[in-house]
This record gives sequence, structure tokens and C-alpha cells, in this order.
Amino acid sequence: MEYLDMVVNETLRLYPVGGRIERDCKNTVEINGVTIPKGTVIVIPTFPLHRDPEYWPEPEEFRPERFSKENKETQNPYVYLPFGAGPRNCIGMRFALLVVKVAIVVLLQKHTLRPCKETQIPLEVHGQVLLEPKKTIKLKLVRRAGLEE
Ligand code: HEM
Repeated sequence: MEYLDMVVNETLRLYPVGGRIERDCKNTVEINGVTIPKGTVIVIPTFPLHRDPEYWPEPEEFRPERFSKENKETQNPYVYLPFGAGPRNCIGMRFALLVVKVAIVVLLQKHTLRPCKETQIPLEVHGQVLLEPKKTIKLKLVRRAGLEE
């Protein structure tokens, strides 16, 4: 379950469903010498932050180990935002992570997923509102050997 958690985190790093988050600036503030006037809409670019090589060495590579217990401790929490951050972050985060993991566990108990002729490699995504694959993701479902009916 620990490794599954790392895999889900790394998947959400590469493919954050909400590619960006937004905040309304309620008061004029100065941050690092930049003045942000009241009423400005601030866009926090989740997708580019998740692939910034300054924080993620070889960012295009799928490496669940980035989210091991030891590595997580040194991570900057504001460069990994699949569920946003602060008082208006995602209220369904725990539920969503649980459902995703249960679905993967149930599926992998009896089956293995393999790429097939119709699998789009590399995966192409677009993100007009939410990040989603350009084409349906097609995979082959193979029953695991040695399992009784
Ligand atoms: C993998 C699944 C999900 C992802 C990646 C996701 C991601 C997000 C993100 C990025 C935000 C914006 C957070 C921010 O602005 O800081 C958000 C907000 C929100 N999410 Fe999710 N979400 C997921 C599933 C769910 C589920 C299952 C529910 C409900 C059961 C849910 C309910 C909400 C609500 C109500 C908000 C608005 C919170 C607010 O504005 O105070 N989400 N989500």
C-alpha cells in the first residue's frame, strides 16, 4: 500500500487533473518585491510546477520513489498541488485517494494491464478546463496466471 500511494502521487504529479488553481486577491500585498493589487486573480500553474526541473530531477520520468517517506520530507509542499493547498483545498482529497487505490487494488488482484496496438504512446493530454487525455486510453486486460475462476 505504501508503494501504491507513491505510484498514485507520482501519477498526479505528471497528470494533475486541475492543471492550475486560482485565487482572488482580497487585499493589496507585496511579495518578494512584487505588488499584487486587491482584486487581481492569481493563477497558480500546477502543471508547470509539477514538471519544473528545479524541483523534480528529470521531471518527465515516472519515478514513484520521489514520494518515498524520506524524499517527501524534503519536498517543498507548494510545488506539488494536485489537490490545491490552504483553506480552500480539495475537500474530497482523502475520499478520492481511497477510491482510486481501492479500484486499482481490486483490478490488479486478478488482472494485469498491458499496452496494446491501440495504446497511445506517448500519452497526449489537453487541458482546456480539466487535464484529460486527447484520446481514450486503451489497454489490454490480462487475467493473471494461476488464478481459479
Ligand atoms: C483525484 C480526484 C480529485 C482531484 C485531483 C481534485 C482536485 C481538486 C483541486 C485541484 C481543487 C482546487 C483546490 C484549490 O484551489 O486549492 C479541488 C477543489 C474541490 N474539490 Fe476536488 N479533486 C478530486 C476529487 C474530488 C472529490 C471526490 C470531491 C468530492 C467528493 C471533490 C470536491 C472538491 C470541492 C468541493 C472543491 C472546492 C473546495 C473549495 O473551494 O473550498 N474533489 N479539487
